[in-house]
Amino acid sequence: MAGRRILLLNGPNLDLLGTREPSVYGSATLAEHVTAVEAACAGLGWSVTHLQSNSEAELVSAIHAARGTTDAVIINPGAFTHYSWAIHDALAAYDGPIVEVHLSQPLSRESWRHTSVVAPVAIGTVAGFGGVGYGLAVEALSRHFAAAK
Ligand code: DQA
Repeated sequence: MAGRRILLLNGPNLDLLGTREPSVYGSATLAEHVTAVEAACAGLGWSVTHLQSNSEAELVSAIHAARGTTDAVIINPGAFTHYSWAIHDALAAYDGPIVEVHLSQPLSRESWRHTSVVAPVAIGTVAGFGGVGYGLAVEALSRHFAAAK
């Protein structure tokens, strides 16, 4: 269905993509990933609002503001993935589907990355496919909405 409004959130340090540990996170910039999401969404007739923040409070406020004003959230919470119960709780209060995205595969990295407090409130997680994961999240939402019809 056309007209869906997607909130794309990227957490701490993702503003450094392109130069941040490119062997782990790739060489594409965040702006390039956002452009890809916007293009994928435009193809479906969907709009995208994007926020990158290094602040947990700002991300929580953006999730609150998304209630009733957007149809789905795509979020790469960065390191907040692993311990931000505030983001978990904000997402739990959100009424639409949530897709968690990671460029890397946290499960194949340090043990502290193996826990996600966001995963329990997401319909699914895309991890380990680099920037392709953002596009896969859009595809997953498209299929989710089609199946829910
Ligand atoms: C990340 C994985 C997290 O563990 C890390 O803290 C990040 C990026 C990813 O996209 O692979 O900042 O979310």
